[in-house]
Amino acid sequence: MKHTAIYPGSFDPLTNGHMDILERAAQMFEKIIVTVAVNNKKTAVFSGEERVELIRQAIQGKEWEHKIEIEQFTGLLINFAREKEVNVLLRGVRQISDFEYEFRMALTNRRLAPEIDTVFLMPDEQLTFISATIVKEVAAWGGDLSSFVPDHVAKALHEKFT
Ligand code: PNS
Repeated sequence: MKHTAIYPGSFDPLTNGHMDILERAAQMFEKIIVTVAVNNKKTAVFSGEERVELIRQAIQGKEWEHKIEIEQFTGLLINFAREKEVNVLLRGVRQISDFEYEFRMALTNRRLAPEIDTVFLMPDEQLTFISATIVKEVAAWGGDLSSFVPDHVAKALHEKFT
C-alpha cells in the first residue's frame, strides 16, 4: 500500500488548479507532502517561506488539512523522496502540452530512482487553463485574480506587484 505521496512544484504561487489536485489526492492518500522547490532556477516572485505560508493558509480548515505536510526542498526531488522514504510523486497534468515535459521528468526520475513512480492527476476541466505563470502576468497588470487563486494569494500577489 502506498500511503504517502509527494506533491512537488514551484507553487509560485499556489493556484486553484493546485488546490484541486491536492483535494483529489487527499481522497487517495493518507498523507501528502507538498514539496516547494526553491532551487529550480526560475526567478520566483515569492520566497520559499512565503510559498509555504500561502499553501498553509489555503489548506486551513479543510477536512483533509491533517493529511498535508508542507516542506521546502533544494536539489534533486528523488533525493528528497528517498530521504522521506516516499515512492509516489504526484503531478497535475492540465493539457496534452503539459504531458511531454511531465513524461520526460517522470522517466528521468524513474531512471534515477526506479523505485519511485509518478502519478498524474487531472484537475477539474474548468481549471485546465490556469497556470502560475499566467496568474503572475494578470497580477502584474492589476487584473482580477479571483477565479484563479484563493483570496489570500490574490492579495499577496497584488501586494508584490504594487
Ligand atoms: O511547478 P513546476 O515548476 O512545474 O515544478 C517542477 C519541479 C519543481 C517539480 C521540478 O523542476 C523538479 O523536480 N525540480 C527539482 C530538480 C529535479 O529533481 N528535477 C527532476 C529531474 S528532471
